[in-house]
Amino acid sequence: MAGPSQHAHWSSRWTFLLAAVGSAVGLGNIWKFPYEAGEGGGGAFVLIYLAFVFIVGLPVLIAELSMGRRGQLSPIGSMAKIAKEEGRSKLWGLVGWSGVVGGFIVISFYSVVGGWVLAYLLKAPMGFAGYDAALSTQTFGAFITDPVNPIVAHFGFLLITVLIVARGVQGGLEKAVTFLMPALFVLLIGLMLYSAITADFAAALNFLFNPDWGKLNVNTVLQALGLAFFSLSLALGSIMTYGSYLTKDMNIPRSAVTIAAADSGVALLAGLAIFPIVFAYGLNPGQSVGLVFTTLPIAFGQMPGGAIIGTLFFFLLTVAAVTSAISLLEPAVSYVEERTGIDRKKVSVYIAIAAFALGTLSAWGQPGNILGTVKVFGLDFMSLKDYITNNIMMPLGGMFIALFVGWFVSRKNMMDELAMEDGTFKLWYFLVRFVCPVAIGAVFVSIIYNTIIAS
Ligand code: PHE
Repeated sequence: MAGPSQHAHWSSRWTFLLAAVGSAVGLGNIWKFPYEAGEGGGGAFVLIYLAFVFIVGLPVLIAELSMGRRGQLSPIGSMAKIAKEEGRSKLWGLVGWSGVVGGFIVISFYSVVGGWVLAYLLKAPMGFAGYDAALSTQTFGAFITDPVNPIVAHFGFLLITVLIVARGVQGGLEKAVTFLMPALFVLLIGLMLYSAITADFAAALNFLFNPDWGKLNVNTVLQALGLAFFSLSLALGSIMTYGSYLTKDMNIPRSAVTIAAADSGVALLAGLAIFPIVFAYGLNPGQSVGLVFTTLPIAFGQMPGGAIIGTLFFFLLTVAAVTSAISLLEPAVSYVEERTGIDRKKVSVYIAIAAFALGTLSAWGQPGNILGTVKVFGLDFMSLKDYITNNIMMPLGGMFIALFVGWFVSRKNMMDELAMEDGTFKLWYFLVRFVCPVAIGAVFVSIIYNTIIAS
């Protein structure tokens, strides 16, 4: 097993922050957040999402980063090692396993959606002239039900990801994010300004920030917590692995606040870039999964310079997806490398091939595609994997991480690791011991209850 001295490290706090924000900011923020906010009725959903990010997500983010840094190993290695040092059961290693396996499952379908984005990026420069609701829906439908193209796109997306991961922490991850993240921010702010100036910004502001509490129900609350976790990259090994590349001198709580703020800030910016266009062209904000792929192209097809704006938008989405995908592949790579000592390049390729294979199920499992009629527990493969990870592994993983640092690691060790001011530590400790487990537990129970009642 590789000892701490061989374990890679970020070269600076800045590159760590870029990578962690890169992991957090992804399809969750720019694709999922706007359509879930659209479906959930706008402002009320947004407020609850933000509350979850800061009250439940942030404390778990701090916990995960600190476990990673203390362990200096993959999530599985780190959890087992810390449990042993604290005189706790070996079974805590399972939390690491759940993260690594969950991350692997997510990358297998995340890269399918990443492939869709890539395909639209290639399509966008030709413009979306003449796209109305029917043509746009039909084009997207024809693409995702094609047996070959989505698989090629999925492969292409994973290839980009593995080319970065294979080069290692400093040579691959850092280099990629140092160039990609600033590009992402510039593009996003540019698009937001463009939308603000040319489209219906007032309607978007009203939609995102004026809460209509009547639209809120148990499901939207569940969805908001799930999204807060997903968009912060929690409980899937990514954040713990990135934490393991941290050195002792970096301040975890401060970094975590920056990550959470950047993550939710980007979600809001994405909303402010997308919704003014949606409203200006009289389109429906609650178009579910299709918001980005079917609704926006209609607007790109009508606006002046739409080919350029559309291309920039899908480029932005590609960048956001790639910098998250690398963090989803990384935990499994770091674990296998640590256990077997096999060269990282080979390990990365093997794991990417496995993720590609598992991902074909999600690509072909789209309704209308060759596995479209295969249902497991009534769900197609994409929804099944999403359900297992988002509704089961992430909340349970997050809850156990909170319980572990709150109740099974000594308070003194946590204080040493986090070096927070007394008052802030007390607040964090309270959140992680009581608020997080109870909130996540309640959400988890209602998910299971809803599923059983619904079926
Ligand atoms: N946070 C990423 C997004 O918003 C997804 C992700 C989840 C990445 C979990 C890593 C781990 O798209």
